[in-house]
Amino acid sequence: MTTKTRPRLVVLLSGSGSNFQAFIDATKSGELNADIVSVISNKAGVMGLERGKNAGIANEVVNHREFVDRENFDHILAERIESYKPDLVILAGFMRILTPGFVHRFAGRIMNIHPSLLPKYPGLHTHKRAIEAGDTTAGATVHFVTSELDGGPAIIQAEVPVLPGDNEAALANRVLVKEHQIYPLAAQWFCEGRLSFNNGKPQLDGKQLPDAGFPFSDIIPEH
Ligand code: GRF
Repeated sequence: MTTKTRPRLVVLLSGSGSNFQAFIDATKSGELNADIVSVISNKAGVMGLERGKNAGIANEVVNHREFVDRENFDHILAERIESYKPDLVILAGFMRILTPGFVHRFAGRIMNIHPSLLPKYPGLHTHKRAIEAGDTTAGATVHFVTSELDGGPAIIQAEVPVLPGDNEAALANRVLVKEHQIYPLAAQWFCEGRLSFNNGKPQLDGKQLPDAGFPFSDIIPEH
């Protein structure tokens, strides 16, 4: 990144925004050297917007129900995002499928976090599916966004154990703890200019990342 000022982040969400909160906290602690310049939700009244207000971050709603189709919604959403001149767009529980045009516009500067060990379990109900399959590990993956749903190249992946007796909520909470660690870290790598994605595969420090992304356990050993 060549900008002399601090990198600018725009966050998109649809709900609770606990990942957004992790970003807010990381910018305050200095773990993430960036400015969150706006949070945009497709739903009014969600907790994520409150978190933005509490942190003094510009917030707005672009309600998908007010548009005739996905293209129109994505076009206006993209315009609103661009108005904040972001270096990086962060999808943090944004529950809309994005059109290829939108993804193309932000290619290489838009990330998502997904609560599974991708490529396992793209889509919804990941924790239920992991428990029902009898998996012994679950986790989360930060990835660059491409037009394939939850299919873009992985950046960091963190694992947690699936414990006997786990229900969806218990497993989700265990995974969220990791999400809050790996997502701001991936953004920081990007903001430092260490991480890039120009089609093909993402690179960290000039080296191609493994298909499953950087294993978080290699950064912070489990025990
Ligand atoms: C997280 O589980 C994230 O992995 C997924 O949506 C959820 C958002 O949670 N993409 P929160 O709104 O950040 O609490």
